[in-house]
Amino acid sequence: MADSSTPTIIKGLEGVYFTETKICKVDGLKGRLWYRGYSIESLAKNSSFEEVSYLILYGRLPKKDELDGFKARLISSMALDNGIVELLKSLNGKMLPMDILRTAVSAMPAFSEKKVYQNDSEEHIAESIEIIGRIAGVVATIGAMMNNLGYSKPDSSRGIAYNILYMMTGKKPEEKAAKMLDVMMILHAEHSSNASTFSTIVAGSTMADLYSAITAGICALKGPLHGGADEKALDMMKDIGDPNNTEKYIEDALAGKKRIMGFGHRVYKTYDPRAKVIKAYLEDIQNGSTMEVQTLTAIALKAEKLMIDKLGESKGIWPNVDFFSGPVYTYIGIPKSLFTPLFAASRSPGWCAHMLEYWQDNRLIRPLDYYNGQLDIPYTPIDQRK
Ligand SMILES: CC(C)(COP(=O)(O)OP(=O)(O)OC[C@H]1O[C@@H](n2cnc3c(N)ncnc32)[C@H](O)[C@@H]1OP(=O)(O)O)[C@@H](O)C(=O)NCCC(=O)NCCS
Repeated sequence: MADSSTPTIIKGLEGVYFTETKICKVDGLKGRLWYRGYSIESLAKNSSFEEVSYLILYGRLPKKDELDGFKARLISSMALDNGIVELLKSLNGKMLPMDILRTAVSAMPAFSEKKVYQNDSEEHIAESIEIIGRIAGVVATIGAMMNNLGYSKPDSSRGIAYNILYMMTGKKPEEKAAKMLDVMMILHAEHSSNASTFSTIVAGSTMADLYSAITAGICALKGPLHGGADEKALDMMKDIGDPNNTEKYIEDALAGKKRIMGFGHRVYKTYDPRAKVIKAYLEDIQNGSTMEVQTLTAIALKAEKLMIDKLGESKGIWPNVDFFSGPVYTYIGIPKSLFTPLFAASRSPGWCAHMLEYWQDNRLIRPLDYYNGQLDIPYTPIDQRK
């Protein structure tokens, strides 16, 4: 029982600030998002995932030669060491893609030249570039193996999104699909101190190395309350099956106190600006796409309207970035079990940048928990326990 000495406990650390940052600003009430001061809408419209990764890591947009050099380093890291490919092969079909990714990232230092890490910012930037490229290469190769294909090298003249599709399928992807994936990666590249970024920083605040910190981030991203929500949202749309079933499905789910995946957010109490960008793309691609994508889109748009009518203004529950992703990824040709690994590939610049920023003025993260159990219980020998 709580007494007058009980401290205030902030469950889920909701509303708690633990550090300052110059990387990202989320305005949850107005539904705005900026990376390094640039609005997400302007980046999604004008930039590329490589340029946004540079911006997030270095704090400014690159000049042409800087971007070219950065992109070349990323794509060269997408070309996986044979040892990583062998590891992926040995795990293929035995674990979920997200678990394979987590295992591969924690094993990656075995395939790096440098195995003893120091707190050196140049080295950390080099490692970040290596990590971003390698995660993309691993996700693409897991996808290739799911398609019963072997590893292929990336095309050094193209960007990460194009190469993910190219390596996954062994074929040159359609430019429109590659562009859509690039936009999706921009939209997922960074989002302040969400659960996975915070997990990354907690691990790194012990002065563990960057690979360990990123592995912690991947672990936290996996759950359906965070990165796994887009898979669950697509499951729901497939369960609904026909746009005419949407209303009954949503009503029954809400009456049964079920959560509708892809709605609600700890910070946004209005429409997630990323979901708005994705919705606009979805409306653009639905004509001329497959029957499956058209049906999923119709269900998504109907569910969106119903949910907003029921819970939008009244409870502040609006679509988040994960809601419309399923139909878009289906259009691009990405299987559901790769959604969250792809999210990890997209979020890796954000994780790295936050870790590097936090290390500039590191303080071990060690909060308190309030013990409310018994004390000084007499020890009972094992043969006398009832
Ligand atoms: C993201 C999320 C965990 C944030 O939740 P939170 O800030 O902890 O909010 P709470 O869990 O306290 O929920 C507050 C209320 O809204 C309801 N709610 C929140 N999200 C909901 C959803 N997706 N569907 C239906 N009801 C929802 C809760 O049931 C709760 O209702 P109550 O006050 O009647 O008990 C939550 O909205 C959720 O589970 N969403 C679905 C998963 C998802 O899409 N995650 C991706 C986030 S980018």
